Amino acid sequence: MARIYKIAVIPGDGTGPEVIREGKKVLEATAGKFGFKLDFIEYDIGGKRYLKTGETLPDSVLEELRGFDAIYLGAIGHPDVKPGILEQGILLNLRFSLDQYINLRPIKLYPGVWTPLKNKTPEDIDFVVVRENTEGLYCASGGFLKKGTKDEVAIQESINTRKGIERCLRYVFEYTQKRNKDKKLTLCGKTNVLTYAFDLWMRVFEEVGSEYPGISCDYAHVDATCMWMVKNPEWFDVIVTDNMFGDIITDLGAMIQGGMGIAAGGNINPDEGGVSMFEPIGGSAPKYTGKNVINPLAAICAGSMMLEFLGEKEAADAIEASVMQVTGEKLKSLSAGKMGYSTTEVGDLVVKFLK
Ligand code: IPM
Ligand code: MN
Repeated sequence: MARIYKIAVIPGDGTGPEVIREGKKVLEATAGKFGFKLDFIEYDIGGKRYLKTGETLPDSVLEELRGFDAIYLGAIGHPDVKPGILEQGILLNLRFSLDQYINLRPIKLYPGVWTPLKNKTPEDIDFVVVRENTEGLYCASGGFLKKGTKDEVAIQESINTRKGIERCLRYVFEYTQKRNKDKKLTLCGKTNVLTYAFDLWMRVFEEVGSEYPGISCDYAHVDATCMWMVKNPEWFDVIVTDNMFGDIITDLGAMIQGGMGIAAGGNINPDEGGVSMFEPIGGSAPKYTGKNVINPLAAICAGSMMLEFLGEKEAADAIEASVMQVTGEKLKSLSAGKMGYSTTEVGDLVVKFLK
């Protein structure tokens, strides 16, 4: 029987629709080659819709999204909308409502790609960051006291639950086990200052880790992690961390792998019936919108991650191999407007090199 996957597509704002168009092109070509079908249904969620109707993510849409096999997202963000509204109303709302408690961010330097790290090659930069995606400082817990006065107080709390930490760590130990590299897992935290939150993280890390004798467990403070990511990225295999630290170190990671043009991420709910969402992490890039110059590879790589998650590992690997051929043999740069090819042409090249 043919495998058919129902995919909700949210092209979103700015260059989102342009990169998603190329991603869909590559996904459809791959599906044809590997004998499965993708049923795409588009949703016009984003800044434009918000400006027109005042709605971010209507409940009815959220309910429909629960029925899909995966969500493929372009970018959310509009220059005319105050910061925070779309991020919280759409992106974070989806992550929280669909309980996508894992944010998976591979940091891999592809052949031919320029990295700002001198003397580092694709052999040195190949690790994965797993970021807890539903707790920590992102819970919007806290508030103001005496707002607007000279005595004003702002409190923003980090929420860390044993259950939330444990399910994230169980996922990452399994992931490290399956990943064909050093079988090394680094917990990134701040145990010397955040003595409650990371005390709990550390205790659960040791507890779950004792069930995985084949994995070597390591710990680094978040500031030191930033240092090692630049100085010795080859030391890392898999890093696990909380929501806020994960947000910060994955932007650093994106830069050492060649920039936002190639950086993809998955927001994953690995539980039975969970709906996961895959996205290029670069944002809506308003200044490049509609010019056919933005790099679609991050969106294409997010599509590959989506296929792997759906169980189409061979197809996912074929896309990655093709992307590596495109970076290795064709593109002059990964930056918008400097690739030597248009957005559309880059998508065509990935299709052409698919094996
Ligand atoms: C990311 C983004 C989001 C985050 C923003 C847009 C809310 O930076 O996916 O890393 O902070 O998680
Ligand atoms: Mn971020």
